[in-house]
Amino acid sequence: MTANPLAPDWLRQPGVSGEPDANALATTVWPRNAVRAASGEITLAAASATALAAEFGTPLYVVDEQDARDRAAELKAAFDAAFAAVGSHATVYYAGKAFLSTEIARWVTVAGLNIDVCSGGELAVALAAGVDPARLGFHGNNKSLAEIDRGVEVGVGAIVLDSVVEVERVAAVAARHGRVQAVRLRINSGVHASTHEFLATAHEDQKFGVPLADAPDVVAAIRSHPSLRFLGLHSHIGSQIFESAGFAEAAGRLLMVHAGLLAGGEVPELNLGGGFGIAYTSADEVTPIATIAQELARVVAAECAALGIPVPAIAVEPGRAIIGPSTVTLYEIGTVKDVVVSVVSTGSTTSTAVRKYVSVDGGMSDNIRAALYQADYSVRLANRSSDAAPALIRLAGKHCESGDIVVRADYLPGDVEPGDLAAVPATGAYCWSLASNYNYLGRPAVVAVKDGAARVIVRRETEADLLSRDAGIPGAAAPDQKATA
Ligand SMILES: Cc1ncc(COP(=O)(O)O)c(C=O)c1O
Repeated sequence: MTANPLAPDWLRQPGVSGEPDANALATTVWPRNAVRAASGEITLAAASATALAAEFGTPLYVVDEQDARDRAAELKAAFDAAFAAVGSHATVYYAGKAFLSTEIARWVTVAGLNIDVCSGGELAVALAAGVDPARLGFHGNNKSLAEIDRGVEVGVGAIVLDSVVEVERVAAVAARHGRVQAVRLRINSGVHASTHEFLATAHEDQKFGVPLADAPDVVAAIRSHPSLRFLGLHSHIGSQIFESAGFAEAAGRLLMVHAGLLAGGEVPELNLGGGFGIAYTSADEVTPIATIAQELARVVAAECAALGIPVPAIAVEPGRAIIGPSTVTLYEIGTVKDVVVSVVSTGSTTSTAVRKYVSVDGGMSDNIRAALYQADYSVRLANRSSDAAPALIRLAGKHCESGDIVVRADYLPGDVEPGDLAAVPATGAYCWSLASNYNYLGRPAVVAVKDGAARVIVRRETEADLLSRDAGIPGAAAPDQKATA
Protein backbone atom coordinates (compact mmCIF):
# COMPACT_ATOMS: atom_id res chain seq x y z
CA MET A 1 0.00 0.00 0.00
CA THR A 2 1.41 3.42 -0.90
CA ALA A 3 1.40 6.02 1.83
CA ASN A 4 -1.52 8.42 1.84
CA PRO A 5 0.00 11.90 1.28
CA LEU A 6 -2.52 13.35 3.75
CA ALA A 7 -1.04 11.30 6.58
CA PRO A 8 1.13 13.28 9.01
CA ASP A 9 4.81 12.32 9.08
CA TRP A 10 4.62 10.84 12.57
CA LEU A 11 1.81 8.41 11.72
CA ARG A 12 3.14 4.97 10.88
CA GLN A 13 1.40 2.93 8.23
CA PRO A 14 -0.11 -0.26 9.65
CA GLY A 15 1.38 -3.48 8.35
CA VAL A 16 4.29 -1.71 6.64
CA SER A 17 7.96 -2.14 7.72
CA GLY A 18 7.00 -4.37 10.63
CA GLU A 19 4.31 -2.02 11.97
CA PRO A 20 1.39 -3.77 13.65
CA ASP A 21 -1.93 -3.88 11.78
CA ALA A 22 -4.80 -1.42 12.19
CA ASN A 23 -6.42 -3.60 14.87
CA ALA A 24 -3.45 -3.58 17.24
CA LEU A 25 -3.65 -1.85 20.63
CA ALA A 26 -0.36 -0.09 21.44
CA THR A 27 0.42 -0.95 25.05
CA THR A 28 1.82 2.52 25.72
CA VAL A 29 -1.47 4.14 24.77
CA TRP A 30 -4.20 1.78 25.96
CA PRO A 31 -5.24 1.06 29.53
CA ARG A 32 -3.26 -1.84 30.94
CA ASN A 33 -6.28 -4.12 31.05
CA ALA A 34 -7.43 -3.48 27.48
CA VAL A 35 -7.09 -6.39 25.06
CA ARG A 36 -8.52 -7.48 21.76
CA ALA A 37 -10.36 -10.71 22.47
CA ALA A 38 -10.33 -13.77 20.22
CA SER A 39 -13.76 -12.67 18.95
CA GLY A 40 -12.10 -9.53 17.59
CA GLU A 41 -13.77 -7.07 19.93
CA ILE A 42 -11.97 -5.01 22.57
CA THR A 43 -12.44 -5.84 26.23
CA LEU A 44 -11.61 -3.37 29.00
CA ALA A 45 -10.77 -5.01 32.32
CA ALA A 46 -12.59 -8.09 30.97
CA ALA A 47 -15.74 -6.08 30.17
CA SER A 48 -16.79 -6.25 26.52
CA ALA A 49 -16.83 -2.89 24.74
CA THR A 50 -19.98 -3.92 22.86
CA ALA A 51 -21.77 -4.89 26.07
CA LEU A 52 -20.68 -1.65 27.78
CA ALA A 53 -22.01 0.43 24.88
CA ALA A 54 -25.27 -1.53 24.85
CA GLU A 55 -25.79 -1.19 28.61
CA PHE A 56 -24.64 2.39 29.21
CA GLY A 57 -25.00 4.03 25.77
CA THR A 58 -22.45 6.08 23.84
CA PRO A 59 -20.46 8.23 23.99
CA LEU A 60 -19.12 6.61 27.13
CA TYR A 61 -15.97 7.19 29.15
CA VAL A 62 -14.73 3.82 30.43
CA VAL A 63 -12.11 3.99 33.20
CA ASP A 64 -9.92 0.98 33.94
CA GLU A 65 -10.09 1.34 37.72
CA GLN A 66 -7.13 -0.88 38.57
CA ASP A 67 -4.97 0.92 36.03
CA ALA A 68 -5.77 4.32 37.56
CA ARG A 69 -5.23 3.07 41.11
CA ASP A 70 -1.96 1.38 40.14
CA ARG A 71 -0.58 4.43 38.34
CA ALA A 72 -1.35 6.60 41.38
CA ALA A 73 0.41 4.13 43.70
CA GLU A 74 3.37 3.65 41.33
CA LEU A 75 3.89 7.37 40.93
CA LYS A 76 3.92 7.82 44.68
CA ALA A 77 6.30 4.89 45.14
CA ALA A 78 8.63 6.31 42.47
CA PHE A 79 8.86 9.73 44.15
CA ASP A 80 9.08 8.22 47.65
CA ALA A 81 12.00 6.03 46.60
CA ALA A 82 13.80 8.72 44.60
CA PHE A 83 13.69 11.34 47.36
CA ALA A 84 14.34 8.89 50.19
CA ALA A 85 17.56 8.07 48.35
CA VAL A 86 18.69 11.69 48.74
CA GLY A 87 17.66 11.91 52.40
CA SER A 88 14.35 13.67 51.88
CA HIS A 89 10.78 12.72 51.13
CA ALA A 90 8.08 13.57 48.59
CA THR A 91 4.36 14.29 48.71
CA VAL A 92 2.30 13.60 45.61
CA TYR A 93 -0.84 15.63 45.01
CA TYR A 94 -3.27 14.42 42.37
CA ALA A 95 -4.24 17.45 40.24
CA GLY A 96 -8.02 17.21 40.40
CA LYS A 97 -8.49 19.44 37.38
CA ALA A 98 -7.51 16.48 35.16
CA PHE A 99 -10.67 14.61 36.22
CA LEU A 100 -12.31 14.74 39.60
CA SER A 101 -15.28 12.83 40.93
CA THR A 102 -15.81 11.53 44.44
CA GLU A 103 -14.84 8.02 43.33
CA ILE A 104 -11.58 9.15 41.70
CA ALA A 105 -10.82 11.22 44.81
CA ARG A 106 -11.16 8.08 46.92
CA TRP A 107 -8.99 5.97 44.58
CA VAL A 108 -6.09 8.40 44.71
CA THR A 109 -6.27 9.08 48.44
CA VAL A 110 -6.40 5.34 49.17
CA ALA A 111 -3.22 5.10 47.07
CA GLY A 112 -1.63 7.59 49.48
CA LEU A 113 -1.85 10.74 47.37
CA ASN A 114 -3.11 14.15 48.42
CA ILE A 115 -5.33 16.20 46.10
CA ASP A 116 -4.99 19.61 44.49
CA VAL A 117 -8.16 21.57 43.86
CA CYS A 118 -8.40 24.90 42.10
CA SER A 119 -11.95 26.09 42.64
CA GLY A 120 -14.75 25.98 45.19
CA GLY A 121 -16.42 23.32 43.03
CA GLU A 122 -13.39 21.01 43.04
CA LEU A 123 -13.04 21.59 46.78
CA ALA A 124 -16.70 20.60 47.24
CA VAL A 125 -16.15 17.34 45.30
CA ALA A 126 -13.10 16.42 47.38
CA LEU A 127 -14.95 17.17 50.61
CA ALA A 128 -17.99 15.21 49.42
CA ALA A 129 -15.65 12.28 48.83
CA GLY A 130 -14.67 12.45 52.50
CA VAL A 131 -11.07 13.48 51.80
CA ASP A 132 -9.34 14.82 54.91
CA PRO A 133 -9.07 18.58 54.20
CA ALA A 134 -5.53 18.52 55.57
CA ARG A 135 -4.64 16.51 52.45
CA LEU A 136 -5.89 19.20 50.09
CA GLY A 137 -3.91 21.91 48.34
CA PHE A 138 -5.91 24.88 47.06
CA HIS A 139 -4.74 26.56 43.85
CA GLY A 140 -5.97 29.32 41.58
CA ASN A 141 -4.85 32.74 40.39
CA ASN A 142 -8.13 34.40 41.36
CA LYS A 143 -9.78 32.55 44.21
CA SER A 144 -12.88 34.36 45.38
CA LEU A 145 -13.13 35.52 48.97
CA ALA A 146 -15.87 32.94 49.48
CA GLU A 147 -13.58 30.19 48.15
CA ILE A 148 -10.72 31.29 50.42
CA ASP A 149 -13.10 31.47 53.35
CA ARG A 150 -14.37 27.94 52.74
CA GLY A 151 -10.85 26.58 52.27
CA VAL A 152 -9.61 28.12 55.52
CA GLU A 153 -12.77 27.19 57.42
CA VAL A 154 -12.61 23.50 56.49
CA GLY A 155 -8.85 23.43 57.15
CA VAL A 156 -7.23 22.77 53.78
CA GLY A 157 -3.63 21.68 54.22
CA ALA A 158 -2.18 24.44 52.08
CA ILE A 159 -3.26 27.37 49.96
CA VAL A 160 -1.09 28.27 47.00
CA LEU A 161 -0.84 32.05 46.95
CA ASP A 162 -0.62 33.47 43.46
CA SER A 163 -0.25 37.22 44.01
CA VAL A 164 0.50 39.90 46.59
CA VAL A 165 -3.23 40.63 46.76
CA GLU A 166 -3.87 37.07 47.86
CA VAL A 167 -1.30 37.25 50.65
CA GLU A 168 -3.36 39.94 52.32
CA ARG A 169 -6.68 38.24 51.53
CA VAL A 170 -5.74 34.85 52.91
CA ALA A 171 -4.02 36.39 55.95
CA ALA A 172 -7.17 38.37 56.79
CA VAL A 173 -9.49 35.39 56.35
CA ALA A 174 -7.26 33.12 58.43
CA ALA A 175 -7.00 35.76 61.17
CA ARG A 176 -10.79 36.08 61.22
CA HIS A 177 -11.10 32.30 61.67
CA GLY A 178 -8.39 32.30 64.34
CA ARG A 179 -6.33 29.93 62.18
CA VAL A 180 -2.73 29.74 61.08
CA GLN A 181 -3.01 28.82 57.42
CA ALA A 182 -0.13 27.04 55.70
CA VAL A 183 0.66 28.61 52.33
CA ARG A 184 2.92 28.14 49.35
CA LEU A 185 3.92 30.89 46.95
CA ARG A 186 3.54 30.24 43.25
CA ILE A 187 6.48 31.49 41.27
CA ASN A 188 6.62 32.43 37.63
CA SER A 189 10.03 30.85 37.11
CA GLY A 190 10.56 31.95 33.50
CA VAL A 191 10.72 28.28 32.53
CA HIS A 192 8.09 27.01 30.18
CA ALA A 193 8.06 23.46 28.98
CA SER A 194 5.91 22.17 26.22
CA THR A 195 6.05 18.60 25.06
CA HIS A 196 9.53 17.89 23.75
CA GLU A 197 11.14 21.24 24.38
CA PHE A 198 11.40 23.81 27.09
CA LEU A 199 12.15 27.50 27.09
CA ALA A 200 13.91 29.27 29.87
CA THR A 201 13.62 33.05 29.83
CA ALA A 202 14.11 35.77 32.42
CA HIS A 203 10.38 36.50 32.40
CA GLU A 204 7.46 34.49 31.16
CA ASP A 205 4.44 36.31 29.81
CA GLN A 206 1.64 34.52 31.66
CA LYS A 207 -0.88 35.07 34.43
CA PHE A 208 0.27 32.66 37.12
CA GLY A 209 2.49 33.39 40.08
CA VAL A 210 4.87 36.15 41.08
CA PRO A 211 8.25 36.77 39.42
CA LEU A 212 11.14 34.94 41.01
CA ALA A 213 12.89 38.25 41.76
CA ASP A 214 9.91 39.39 43.86
CA ALA A 215 9.80 36.22 45.95
CA PRO A 216 11.93 37.52 48.89
CA ASP A 217 9.65 40.52 49.41
CA VAL A 218 6.45 38.54 49.04
CA VAL A 219 7.71 35.85 51.42
CA ALA A 220 8.66 38.58 53.91
CA ALA A 221 5.07 39.84 53.63
CA ILE A 222 3.76 36.31 54.24
CA ARG A 223 6.00 35.92 57.26
CA SER A 224 4.84 39.23 58.68
CA HIS A 225 1.36 37.75 59.16
CA PRO A 226 0.95 35.60 62.27
CA SER A 227 -2.04 33.98 60.59
CA LEU A 228 0.12 32.52 57.79
CA ARG A 229 2.78 29.81 57.84
CA PHE A 230 5.13 29.74 54.85
CA LEU A 231 5.79 26.25 53.47
CA GLY A 232 7.81 27.01 50.36
CA LEU A 233 7.88 27.98 46.71
CA HIS A 234 5.79 26.41 44.00
CA SER A 235 6.31 26.18 40.28
CA HIS A 236 4.35 24.48 37.49
CA ILE A 237 6.07 24.79 34.15
CA GLY A 238 3.54 23.27 31.78
CA SER A 239 1.91 20.06 30.72
CA GLN A 240 2.54 16.98 28.60
CA ILE A 241 6.29 17.21 29.25
CA PHE A 242 8.45 14.25 28.23
CA GLU A 243 11.88 15.34 29.44
CA SER A 244 13.11 16.18 32.92
CA ALA A 245 15.29 19.09 31.73
CA GLY A 246 12.58 21.75 32.17
CA PHE A 247 11.77 20.57 35.71
CA ALA A 248 15.47 20.54 36.53
CA GLU A 249 15.91 24.10 35.25
CA ALA A 250 12.93 25.31 37.29
CA ALA A 251 14.13 23.44 40.39
CA GLY A 252 17.57 25.03 40.07
CA ARG A 253 16.12 28.53 39.77
CA LEU A 254 13.73 28.08 42.67
CA LEU A 255 16.33 26.52 44.94
CA MET A 256 18.61 29.52 44.63
CA VAL A 257 15.85 31.75 45.99
CA HIS A 258 14.78 29.05 48.46
CA ALA A 259 18.32 29.04 49.90
CA GLY A 260 18.17 32.80 50.45
CA LEU A 261 14.79 32.51 52.15
CA LEU A 262 16.22 30.14 54.77
CA ALA A 263 17.94 33.15 56.40
CA GLY A 264 14.51 34.52 57.35
CA GLY A 265 12.91 31.33 58.70
CA GLU A 266 11.87 27.81 57.82
CA VAL A 267 11.27 26.70 54.24
CA PRO A 268 10.30 23.08 54.70
CA GLU A 269 9.32 22.21 51.12
CA LEU A 270 9.56 22.88 47.40
CA ASN A 271 6.68 22.14 45.04
CA LEU A 272 7.62 21.36 41.43
CA GLY A 273 4.09 21.09 40.03
CA GLY A 274 2.79 18.53 37.56
CA GLY A 275 2.97 18.07 33.82
CA PHE A 276 4.44 14.59 33.25
CA GLY A 277 3.59 13.51 29.70
CA ILE A 278 1.66 10.46 28.52
CA ALA A 279 1.39 8.66 25.18
CA TYR A 280 -1.63 9.64 23.10
CA THR A 281 -0.43 7.82 19.98
CA SER A 282 2.09 5.06 19.40
CA ALA A 283 4.53 7.72 18.16
CA ASP A 284 4.79 9.25 21.65
CA GLU A 285 7.76 7.93 23.59
CA VAL A 286 7.26 8.53 27.27
CA THR A 287 10.02 8.66 29.86
CA PRO A 288 9.09 6.34 32.73
CA ILE A 289 7.97 8.25 35.84
CA ALA A 290 10.62 6.49 37.93
CA THR A 291 13.32 7.91 35.64
CA ILE A 292 11.90 11.43 35.94
CA ALA A 293 11.64 11.09 39.72
CA GLN A 294 15.26 9.88 40.00
CA GLU A 295 16.52 12.62 37.71
CA LEU A 296 14.67 15.28 39.71
CA ALA A 297 16.00 13.91 42.98
CA ARG A 298 19.53 13.91 41.56
CA VAL A 299 19.24 17.52 40.34
CA VAL A 300 17.62 18.78 43.54
CA ALA A 301 20.21 17.03 45.71
CA ALA A 302 23.09 18.35 43.60
CA GLU A 303 21.75 21.94 43.68
CA CYS A 304 21.21 21.75 47.44
CA ALA A 305 24.73 20.42 47.96
CA ALA A 306 26.13 23.25 45.85
CA LEU A 307 24.12 25.79 47.86
CA GLY A 308 25.04 24.11 51.16
CA ILE A 309 21.41 23.63 52.24
CA PRO A 310 19.43 20.57 53.30
CA VAL A 311 17.27 18.90 50.65
CA PRO A 312 13.72 20.13 51.28
CA ALA A 313 10.67 17.90 51.16
CA ILE A 314 9.47 17.83 47.56
CA ALA A 315 5.88 18.01 46.39
CA VAL A 316 4.65 17.23 42.87
CA GLU A 317 1.13 17.43 41.49
CA PRO A 318 0.52 15.32 38.41
CA GLY A 319 -2.96 14.77 37.00
CA ARG A 320 -2.69 13.50 33.44
CA ALA A 321 -0.05 10.84 34.18
CA ILE A 322 -2.39 9.20 36.70
CA ILE A 323 -5.81 9.32 35.09
CA GLY A 324 -5.07 9.99 31.40
CA PRO A 325 -3.99 6.53 30.21
CA SER A 326 -6.66 4.70 32.22
CA THR A 327 -9.63 5.77 30.13
CA VAL A 328 -11.13 5.00 26.74
CA THR A 329 -14.05 6.82 25.11
CA LEU A 330 -16.49 4.61 23.23
CA TYR A 331 -18.50 6.11 20.39
CA GLU A 332 -20.95 4.74 17.89
CA ILE A 333 -20.06 5.51 14.30
CA GLY A 334 -22.95 7.16 12.45
CA THR A 335 -21.65 8.13 9.03
CA VAL A 336 -18.61 7.38 6.89
CA LYS A 337 -17.69 9.38 3.81
CA ASP A 338 -14.70 9.56 1.51
CA VAL A 339 -13.56 13.12 0.95
CA VAL A 340 -11.28 13.74 -2.01
CA VAL A 341 -8.63 16.29 -1.12
CA SER A 342 -6.24 18.11 -3.47
CA VAL A 343 -2.62 17.59 -2.61
CA VAL A 344 0.04 19.95 -3.89
CA SER A 345 3.38 18.20 -3.91
CA THR A 346 6.86 19.58 -4.51
CA GLY A 347 7.19 21.02 -7.99
CA SER A 348 3.58 22.21 -7.52
CA THR A 349 2.06 19.21 -9.24
CA THR A 350 -1.45 18.65 -7.95
CA SER A 351 -2.90 15.25 -7.25
CA THR A 352 -5.73 14.02 -5.07
CA ALA A 353 -5.98 11.74 -2.08
CA VAL A 354 -8.87 10.41 -0.05
CA ARG A 355 -9.48 11.01 3.60
CA LYS A 356 -12.27 8.99 5.17
CA TYR A 357 -14.37 11.12 7.52
CA VAL A 358 -15.83 8.85 10.17
CA SER A 359 -18.40 10.69 12.29
CA VAL A 360 -19.34 9.63 15.81
CA ASP A 361 -22.10 10.46 18.26
CA GLY A 362 -19.99 12.80 20.44
CA GLY A 363 -17.11 15.09 19.59
CA MET A 364 -15.74 18.37 20.87
CA SER A 365 -18.28 18.39 23.73
CA ASP A 366 -16.64 15.29 25.28
CA ASN A 367 -13.10 15.85 24.00
CA ILE A 368 -12.12 19.41 23.16
CA ARG A 369 -8.39 18.77 23.23
CA ALA A 370 -7.90 18.27 19.48
CA ALA A 371 -9.78 21.49 18.74
CA LEU A 372 -8.21 23.42 21.60
CA TYR A 373 -4.60 22.24 21.49
CA GLN A 374 -4.32 20.38 18.15
CA ALA A 375 -3.82 17.33 20.33
CA ASP A 376 -3.42 14.01 18.53
CA TYR A 377 -5.30 10.88 19.55
CA SER A 378 -5.62 7.41 18.08
CA VAL A 379 -8.64 5.21 17.42
CA ARG A 380 -9.53 1.55 16.94
CA LEU A 381 -12.65 -0.35 16.01
CA ALA A 382 -13.95 -1.73 19.30
CA ASN A 383 -16.69 -4.14 18.24
CA ARG A 384 -14.65 -6.20 15.77
CA SER A 385 -11.33 -6.57 14.07
CA SER A 386 -10.97 -6.63 10.31
CA ASP A 387 -8.46 -7.68 7.68
CA ALA A 388 -9.61 -4.97 5.27
CA ALA A 389 -6.83 -2.73 3.96
CA PRO A 390 -6.32 0.21 6.32
CA ALA A 391 -7.66 3.61 5.32
CA LEU A 392 -6.53 7.00 6.56
CA ILE A 393 -9.39 8.40 8.59
CA ARG A 394 -10.35 11.48 10.52
CA LEU A 395 -12.69 10.84 13.44
CA ALA A 396 -15.14 13.74 13.49
CA GLY A 397 -17.82 14.62 16.00
CA LYS A 398 -21.44 15.57 15.41
CA HIS A 399 -21.22 19.25 16.34
CA CYS A 400 -21.84 22.21 14.06
CA GLU A 401 -18.17 23.14 13.72
CA SER A 402 -15.76 22.00 11.06
CA GLY A 403 -13.10 21.99 13.77
CA ASP A 404 -15.07 19.34 15.65
CA ILE A 405 -12.46 16.61 15.34
CA VAL A 406 -11.57 13.96 17.92
CA VAL A 407 -8.81 12.13 16.07
CA ARG A 408 -7.04 14.15 13.41
CA ALA A 409 -5.36 11.21 11.72
CA ASP A 410 -5.18 7.47 12.17
CA TYR A 411 -5.73 4.32 10.15
CA LEU A 412 -8.80 2.11 10.56
CA PRO A 413 -9.71 -0.96 8.56
CA GLY A 414 -11.14 0.38 5.29
CA ASP A 415 -14.44 -1.47 5.76
CA VAL A 416 -15.35 0.72 8.78
CA GLU A 417 -19.10 1.33 8.59
CA PRO A 418 -22.01 2.98 10.34
CA GLY A 419 -22.96 1.04 13.45
CA ASP A 420 -19.37 0.09 14.29
CA LEU A 421 -18.03 1.12 17.68
CA ALA A 422 -14.96 3.36 17.82
CA ALA A 423 -12.70 3.44 20.87
CA VAL A 424 -10.38 6.39 21.53
CA PRO A 425 -7.78 5.65 24.23
CA ALA A 426 -5.99 8.01 26.67
CA THR A 427 -9.03 10.21 27.27
CA GLY A 428 -8.95 10.19 31.08
CA ALA A 429 -7.43 13.62 31.55
CA TYR A 430 -8.93 16.96 30.53
CA CYS A 431 -11.75 15.39 28.47
CA TRP A 432 -14.55 14.88 30.98
CA SER A 433 -13.34 17.88 33.00
CA LEU A 434 -13.42 20.13 29.91
CA ALA A 435 -16.68 18.66 28.58
CA SER A 436 -19.48 21.00 27.58
CA ASN A 437 -23.11 20.95 26.54
CA TYR A 438 -22.39 22.48 23.14
CA ASN A 439 -25.36 21.92 20.81
CA TYR A 440 -27.24 20.68 23.89
CA LEU A 441 -25.54 17.32 23.96
CA GLY A 442 -25.71 15.77 27.41
CA ARG A 443 -22.32 14.99 28.89
CA PRO A 444 -21.52 11.25 28.74
CA ALA A 445 -21.54 8.87 31.67
CA VAL A 446 -18.32 7.65 33.24
CA VAL A 447 -18.17 3.92 33.95
CA ALA A 448 -15.46 2.23 36.00
CA VAL A 449 -14.53 -1.31 34.95
CA LYS A 450 -12.72 -3.84 37.09
CA ASP A 451 -12.55 -7.65 36.87
CA GLY A 452 -15.30 -7.78 34.28
CA ALA A 453 -17.75 -5.69 36.30
CA ALA A 454 -18.85 -2.18 35.34
CA ARG A 455 -20.41 0.53 37.48
CA VAL A 456 -21.43 4.09 36.75
CA ILE A 457 -19.32 6.60 38.68
CA VAL A 458 -20.84 9.66 36.99
CA ARG A 459 -24.21 9.30 35.31
CA ARG A 460 -25.05 10.55 31.83
CA GLU A 461 -26.69 13.98 31.58
CA THR A 462 -30.30 13.70 30.49
CA GLU A 463 -32.50 16.04 28.49
CA ALA A 464 -34.17 16.93 31.78
CA ASP A 465 -30.76 17.98 33.16
CA LEU A 466 -30.23 20.13 30.10
CA LEU A 467 -33.56 21.87 30.50
CA SER A 468 -33.42 22.13 34.28
CA ARG A 469 -31.84 25.61 34.42
CA ASP A 470 -33.98 27.20 31.72
CA ALA A 471 -36.25 29.61 33.60
CA GLY A 472 -38.41 30.27 30.53
CA ILE A 473 -40.16 26.91 30.52
CA PRO A 474 -43.81 27.19 31.64
CA GLY A 475 -44.06 25.91 35.20
CA ALA A 476 -40.29 26.24 35.79
CA ALA A 477 -39.28 27.34 39.27
CA ALA A 478 -38.46 31.04 39.60
CA PRO A 479 -34.73 31.54 39.14
CA ASP A 480 -32.69 31.90 42.30
CA GLN A 481 -29.73 33.96 41.22
CA LYS A 482 -28.11 34.64 44.56
CA ALA A 483 -24.35 34.62 44.18
CA THR A 484 -22.50 31.58 45.44
CA ALA A 485 -18.81 30.84 45.67
C1 LIG B 1 -0.62 24.24 38.97
C2 LIG B 1 -0.84 22.95 38.26
N1 LIG B 1 -0.44 21.81 38.86
C3 LIG B 1 -0.62 20.61 38.26
C4 LIG B 1 -1.22 20.51 37.03
C5 LIG B 1 -1.41 19.15 36.43
O1 LIG B 1 -0.78 19.00 35.21
P1 LIG B 1 -0.77 17.56 34.51
O2 LIG B 1 -2.18 17.07 34.51
O3 LIG B 1 -0.27 17.83 33.14
O4 LIG B 1 0.13 16.68 35.32
C6 LIG B 1 -1.63 21.67 36.37
C7 LIG B 1 -2.26 21.59 35.04
O5 LIG B 1 -2.59 22.53 34.38
C8 LIG B 1 -1.45 22.93 37.01
O6 LIG B 1 -1.85 24.06 36.43
